[in-house]
Amino acid sequence: HIYQDSESASWYVANEIASLIKQKEEKGEKAVLGLATGSTPTKVYDYLVQFHKEGRLSFKNVVTFNLDEYFPMEPDSIHSYVRFMNEHLFDHIDIEPFNVHIPNGNLPKDDIKKFCADYEEKIQNVGGIDIQILGIGRTGHIGFNEPGSSLSSKTRLVRLDRVTRLDAASDFFGEENVPRRAITMGVGTIMNARRIILMAWGEGKAPIIHQAVEGEIKESVPATFLQHHENCDFVIDDAASSFL
Ligand code: GLP
Repeated sequence: HIYQDSESASWYVANEIASLIKQKEEKGEKAVLGLATGSTPTKVYDYLVQFHKEGRLSFKNVVTFNLDEYFPMEPDSIHSYVRFMNEHLFDHIDIEPFNVHIPNGNLPKDDIKKFCADYEEKIQNVGGIDIQILGIGRTGHIGFNEPGSSLSSKTRLVRLDRVTRLDAASDFFGEENVPRRAITMGVGTIMNARRIILMAWGEGKAPIIHQAVEGEIKESVPATFLQHHENCDFVIDDAASSFL
């Protein structure tokens, strides 16, 4: 789906999410959302908050799983994805705190394996993810699945690519402050979602969108694995579509 701008594209995505939540609510079921951070999804979150404030949307029956978190990372750090999600979404809606899941970047290293296995189990236990939203990194990463991530990878501790750390450098006031690792859902975890919506804005994303959509499927560009998914939409703006 190519939209003129990120505003109208985000409006479409927010409405897709709102419809899912309402459909599930009518059936007395929970909607399970896979959520992303970064600058890309922020307008979608703004619209969801707006729908809630207008009294049109409740999140009481919504369960969320975030894709990733830096490691190590204190949850109350200004750089944490916990903080990001609270500021952009959770602090402004009626979601139950026990329905919110974000990888814990503050664990002793020995506890990470178990945490990741439990994260996978929790996703299974609620019946899997209904809609997974994604951004894309310049390396072709989804979540923090950097080049080399396999199709079957699950939630785990990973090492970040140099390009990804460079892209995050200004947020962290210098590359040396960007964590070297992260906990991320795997490509396999993402691929298990019933529907995937990847968003990308701006000409900076055009080359990687071209590779992800039209390129050969390969581990060196993890987003190409999405070509295997039966229900995956790329929702992009004009500028991000310019190499297609
Ligand atoms: C980070 C996140 C990704 C996100 C990517 C792109 O690496 N872990 O989930 O897709 O950044 O960021 P942005 O949306 O700011 O371009």
